[in-house]
Parts: sequence; structure tokens; C-alpha cells
Amino acid sequence: MANTFLHNNTTCTISFPDKSLPAISVSRHRSLSFSSNLSTFPKMSTAVEQNRRETIIVKSKSDSELEVDISLSPRVNAVKPSRTVAITDQATALVQAGVPVIRLAAGEPDFDTPAVIAEAGVNAICEGHTRYTPNAGTLEIRQAICHKLKEENGLDYTPDQIVVTNGAKQSITQAVIAVCSPGDEVIIPAPFWVSYPEMARLADATPVILPTSISNNFLLDPKLLESKITEKSRLLILCSPSNPTGSVYPKYLLEEIAKIVAKHPRLLVISDEIYEHIIYAPATHTSFASLPRMWNRTLTVNGFSKAFAMTGWRLGYIAGPKHFIAAVGKIQSQFTSGPSSISQKAGVAALGLGYAGGEAVSTMVKAFRERRDYLVKSFSEIDGVKISEPQGAFYLFIDFSSYYGKEAEGFGKIENSESLCRYLLDKGQVALVPGSAFGDDTCIRISYAASLPTLQAAVENIKKALIPLTSAALV
Ligand SMILES: Cc1ncc(COP(=O)(O)O)c(C=O)c1O
Repeated sequence: MANTFLHNNTTCTISFPDKSLPAISVSRHRSLSFSSNLSTFPKMSTAVEQNRRETIIVKSKSDSELEVDISLSPRVNAVKPSRTVAITDQATALVQAGVPVIRLAAGEPDFDTPAVIAEAGVNAICEGHTRYTPNAGTLEIRQAICHKLKEENGLDYTPDQIVVTNGAKQSITQAVIAVCSPGDEVIIPAPFWVSYPEMARLADATPVILPTSISNNFLLDPKLLESKITEKSRLLILCSPSNPTGSVYPKYLLEEIAKIVAKHPRLLVISDEIYEHIIYAPATHTSFASLPRMWNRTLTVNGFSKAFAMTGWRLGYIAGPKHFIAAVGKIQSQFTSGPSSISQKAGVAALGLGYAGGEAVSTMVKAFRERRDYLVKSFSEIDGVKISEPQGAFYLFIDFSSYYGKEAEGFGKIENSESLCRYLLDKGQVALVPGSAFGDDTCIRISYAASLPTLQAAVENIKKALIPLTSAALV
């Protein structure tokens, strides 16, 4: 198999040793790029992968043949690309091609960053805050974070126990890499945020997935946790309020979990609290590190993306005992250095908005709550679906499994969450994320970070698309 194209004004031919390799193209700027994703690479055992060579031959009129080894690290091959990002990109491409897709796949608030925060960013540029900051973040923002953690979470940290990162995602990745040794186990309750298992794999650790059930509001059963802890267990990752379920762990349950964690000296907890402020009363947030004996065992992660509608600013942070936080900072110093100086100034302004983000955040939370109520009511009216009412975040994780196995004319069988999402995109033009991406194939995730009229249109489309399945669904 060979491809011919123009490269640097010469014609190039690329030969593939294996048909299953992705299509390759060469830009005119002498760079190679792959048009396909990693999953199209042939599956190979780890042993084979260690010595794997995948070569291509590049020919040009002026150059002699050049052999290029295009193999990738086995560690990278073990990692799956983010499905939420892939589906969001696919839906965006459809919209750009003129298809009126309603995008409810992304985990991104539809609000603009509050003006005071945005202005702080603009001022940062105008005032010349455009240089590298200390690797762990400016003292100014770390002090503001310490103040927030004390006031809102009852947690005592000093600035040297904080690292500010390019989004909370980087905090979690660096923490997993910092504490896990090859072969360590990372315990992750399912449904989980798509990135946790892949972060464990990137650290050569093994994700251990603990299922939960919709009838128990997707909350981890402490007995199950206890039964799965081994001497290899290094990390437990908790996320409350949860992406994708919106579940909020009540304090008593966290206390039970803490008692189990305390019995196992090797076990640390990453507490991902990024949706902390998006919570619906009477639910309340408890920081895991505030529980008895848990401060020394917990790495608390939080960020600005969700509550402050600052996804594009890429700003998050991690707090914990100095020993671990210094290790996280060491990794950061070699990966990216500190986050953007401009975003940090904006982050200080965000933390200055007042308790829990003040009025700017509570206005957004009020809108999220209205949307949640609308969606819960609307989907409860559909036969055969099960819902656990979310107490926080901006997702609804709905059990549609009673529709699996049904045939749709012109589409085929709805096999699972993946094919149901494809069906709803095809027939209803609504982009949603299959539960399989989050480790629970019975459900699909709807993000309600979209306006009420958009959600109303989506519900209408989904209901219409389900009609041909409904009569057959409830046998
Ligand atoms: C549970 C959870 N944690 C962390 C993140 C990372 O957020 P960011 O890197 O934008 O701060 C996300 C984003 O979707 C999330 O849903």
C-alpha cells in the first residue's frame, strides 16, 4: 500500500507495511501527521510491544529512501483517547458541516467567565504579568487558595502545600504519577470520570474498578471497598459531586470510607472536588481531608473550570502534605512549569468573589438546578428509564438499558449505550456520551450545561427518536 502526495515541492510516497496502520499525510511544512486515532493500531501483547518496530519508507524525488520507525510507547498504546472529547469534536464537526446537532456531550458550562474574572485577566496582560511564575504558582494565588480551603472546607494548608496546575486534570495526573509505582492498584468507583483509569495506566498502575448501582445513587459501598483492598492498593479516587452521575457523598458515608482507609497505611485518597460549588441543597459538600486522620492521607484537587466557567483558562490546584505536593511540583517543573501567569491573576479574582464564589456562582448554580429539575421531570415521563436525581454537577446519568436489544428500522439493533447514542445522534440529532465511557454500559450521560430552550429541544428530539423503540422496549 502506498500513498503519493506533495511534500516540500517534491512528490513523496509512503509505503505501509501493514494495512491496519492509519492513513498518513505529510504537510508542506515538513511535518508528519496521522489522521487516525490510536485505537486503529494493531493490538499486540505487551511483550511484543516492547520490541515493536513499525517502519514506513518515505521516498522523494530529491531524497533517497528514508526509513521511519513510527511505533509508539506501549504505555501510550495502553491509554484510550478521551471519548467525551472525541464525541464533542465529532458533534462540533457535524455542526460545522451544517447538521443541526444539539451538543450535550461536553462537560463545559455554557456561561461566560464572570466579567470581574475576565477583567483581571485583561489587566494582568496590560500590567505586564506575562512572565513565568514560580513553578507551583504565584504566592498570591497559593495564599488565596489556602484562605479558601480554610474558610470553605475547614482545611489548614500553607502555600508550600499547594501546587497550581494547568487545569485540575494536570493536578490529578501528576499526583497519580507521583505516588504510584508500577503494578500498584488505583481503586476507582464506577461510573467514573473517563480520565481516572487512563491516568493510572499512564503511571504503569492498574485501575481496579468498583461498580456502584443506580438504586444506591451510584455511591460506593464501603464493604465492597474493604473487600477489594490489597497490599498493592495505593490510591482511592473519590469524586464528589460526581461526573458523570451528579451523586454527592453524604458525610456519614465518607466517614465510613475514611475508617477503612485509616486501616491501610499504604492507601492514599485523591479527593476530586472540582464540582464542589455546583451542589443542590439540601446536599452539602464534605472535603475528605477534613475527616478524622485523613489530612495526611488525602490529596485534595479542585479547580476553576466548572464553578467559575473558566474551562479555557486551564487552572486547577492540588493541596496535600508537603512530601507529596513537592513530588507533584517536581513533575510539573519538568512537564509544563507553572500555569499561565494571566490565568493565575484571573484565579485570584475568582477566589475574591466571596464565599463559594459569591453571587456570580450562585446565579449559575440556580440555572443548573432549574435545568436539572426540568430534565429529571421530563425523563421520568419516558417509559423504561431509571434516574437517580443528581445532587450536584451538571450531568444526568440515565439508565436506558431497557431499550437495548430493540431493533430500529433503518438503523439496526440497539446493542448498548454506544449504539443508543449513535441512534440518538442519527435520528434525534442530539450528541450524548455512552455510559460505557464511564464504566457503566447501562446508562448514557446528558450534560445540562446548555440553556433551557436547548434542553427542551433536545428532550423533544430524544422523545421522538425513542417512539419507534418504545412499543418494543417494554416487553
Ligand atoms: C471530575 C473531573 N475532574 C477534573 C476535571 C478536569 O477539569 P480541568 O482540567 O478543566 O480543571 C474534570 C473535567 O471535566 C472533571 O469532570
